[in-house]
Amino acid sequence: MTRQILVTSALPYANGPIHLGHLVEYIQTDIFARFQRLRGHNVAYLCADDTHGTAIMIRAQKEGRTPEQLIADMTVQHQRDFAAFGLSFDHYGSTNSPANYAVASGIWAKLRAADMVVERSVERLYDPVQKTFLADRFVVGECPRCGTKEQYGDSCESCGSTYTATELKNPRSVHSGATPELRPSQQLFVRLTGLQPMLTEWTQRSGALQSEVANYLAGHFLDKPLQDWDVSRPAPYFGFEIPDAKGQYWYVWFDAPIGYIAAAKEWCERTGQSLDAWWKNPQCEVVHFLGKDITYFHTLFWPALLHVGGYQLPKRVQIHGFLRVNGEKMSKSKGTFVTAARYLEYLDAEWLRYYYASKLSNKIDDLDFQQDEFVGKVNSDLVGRVVNLASRSARFVEATGLSAHYPDDGGLFARGAAASEAIATAYEACDYREAMRLVMTLADAANEYVEKRAPWTLKKDPARAQELQDVCTVVLNLFHQIVVYLQPVLPALAARGAALLGSRGDRWELAQTRLVGGKVAKFEHLMARVELDKVQAMFVPEAAVPVAPVAPAPTPTITPAATAVGTGDAGDALSKEPLASEIGIDEFQKVDLRIAKVIAAEAVPDAKKLLRLTLSLGSGPTRNVFAGIKSAYEPEQLVGRLVVMVANLAPRKMKFGLSEGMVIAAGTDGEVFLLSPDAGARPGQRLH
Ligand code: 2FM
Ligand code: ZN
Repeated sequence: MTRQILVTSALPYANGPIHLGHLVEYIQTDIFARFQRLRGHNVAYLCADDTHGTAIMIRAQKEGRTPEQLIADMTVQHQRDFAAFGLSFDHYGSTNSPANYAVASGIWAKLRAADMVVERSVERLYDPVQKTFLADRFVVGECPRCGTKEQYGDSCESCGSTYTATELKNPRSVHSGATPELRPSQQLFVRLTGLQPMLTEWTQRSGALQSEVANYLAGHFLDKPLQDWDVSRPAPYFGFEIPDAKGQYWYVWFDAPIGYIAAAKEWCERTGQSLDAWWKNPQCEVVHFLGKDITYFHTLFWPALLHVGGYQLPKRVQIHGFLRVNGEKMSKSKGTFVTAARYLEYLDAEWLRYYYASKLSNKIDDLDFQQDEFVGKVNSDLVGRVVNLASRSARFVEATGLSAHYPDDGGLFARGAAASEAIATAYEACDYREAMRLVMTLADAANEYVEKRAPWTLKKDPARAQELQDVCTVVLNLFHQIVVYLQPVLPALAARGAALLGSRGDRWELAQTRLVGGKVAKFEHLMARVELDKVQAMFVPEAAVPVAPVAPAPTPTITPAATAVGTGDAGDALSKEPLASEIGIDEFQKVDLRIAKVIAAEAVPDAKKLLRLTLSLGSGPTRNVFAGIKSAYEPEQLVGRLVVMVANLAPRKMKFGLSEGMVIAAGTDGEVFLLSPDAGARPGQRLH
């Protein structure tokens, strides 16, 4: 029976680049979508950029452009990266779309009609510099329970407790470093208690969730009345204004998951289908893939919205753990925060697809990227055990093609065909590790056969030409069977393998079909071996490329005028500091301005104004620079950000040490504003 399956990955935020952590999920989902298509099912794989919220608004403001310009830029970058990793979205949308507004408004009207929206005043933290209320993740401070420093406003990574942002001790705004103030805010809430029986039933008994997730929800949320969900934010906010509440905007997490439906709506409109025939059809299986950190949004709030909106609840919510690198959290300063774009500068996308597949199971455990293991799996599994089957046989039958009849292979092909359901079951369960293990067992058996029959020896004896052709026919059939099974993981390798043998390679059943009598194309290189030094180079911290910082770069906190950037106050600054006399282009070009990354920053004892910065130009020695910016920046705010420096200024001996360059900043009357490049700039790049 043909199934109808609507598959999604969590929508990436539009304020940061795609990185190796994201790719665990997108690759996991893409393998599932490709597997289902290969089995002949009707699949829609949908995704979109998650574009709303304070972070995007503030970042755009800092970069001197509108949020719309920023998200337009980011979606190009995201989709370019996704395409390079072979992600087979049927549609890629945006939460800032008319379709999303329409779907969100429809669900909102139903919430109102069901009397599930309540309004009340709450005290919220407000950033007096940025003039905005602060989302939980934009406040850091000390955990109110265990005192660990630098914790976010919703939960502590050290003791695991959850709390509200107002409980944090010594809170500060991530945006500006300012101490937040408590201000009353009139907000709208969705009342969830009426849906608690439905949510309990769905989470505990529908089979949609992994058992660990169901247990977590039962123990942490469903054991007491569900709290009302705070779904509005006051202006200024980049998002949709709530149709019947002027000046209030839907909180980003309200319209983000609705973006899944909006993407489906756009796709249906584009392809002449009906959205209802998908998301309102009980036969349609909705399957969401997401990370463990956003579990409760997708397993409590989201099904509540779907239920009220009259949409099908997910058939399955597939949750994965985080990516770690060498056992640790990804870290920008250690160079282990690797963007998709950076990965592609060094390595092949399919290597990562296979590596992740070989480690992913149906469990929520974190996945650890280990360099040696990565190299081993690619070189010994993919190249040594799979690709070698073709490279050790195809050349010998380029002229003759495959034998006209399938020879006796001692039951090898039949054994591979019989593995079909076990492999399919593993894919279906998202236990890709098991699927890869089963496929590699088949590859081992095929390799034993090659070793034993040694086509390279047969080749030397013209009297054994038929035997050579038969042996190669067997080996290439086993190779073909394996690449069909690997197609969801390695679509490019599978396409090259299929082309070699004139197969379409696009149906799971082809793993049951023996290829005979056909031509064999000229053997082309199928996959290269990976070199460890390339993997190591990718993780070198100095060259790490923050294509766009995940959290916005800090803003000086010294004067309210700091927020006036872009509001037309240039005339005043110009009169205070008139333009310098004209110079020629040659003179300008003598000044070598470069993008630099702040590797370390510290206060200089006894120097009131100075911070000591260690700057990286991407390669070569780091520079020590003393900058008079202490009044405006905390040292820890600067680490990891990009600045502009004069890189060819003669070193200057100062009381505190040698200063090897100068950092560029704007400001009059004691103000200091460091300059940041737009997303995509890299350390070492020259300003022209
Ligand atoms: O956590 C995140 O990265 C969110 N942008 C995921 C949103 S998923 C969906 F709900 F939109
Ligand atoms: Zn704590």
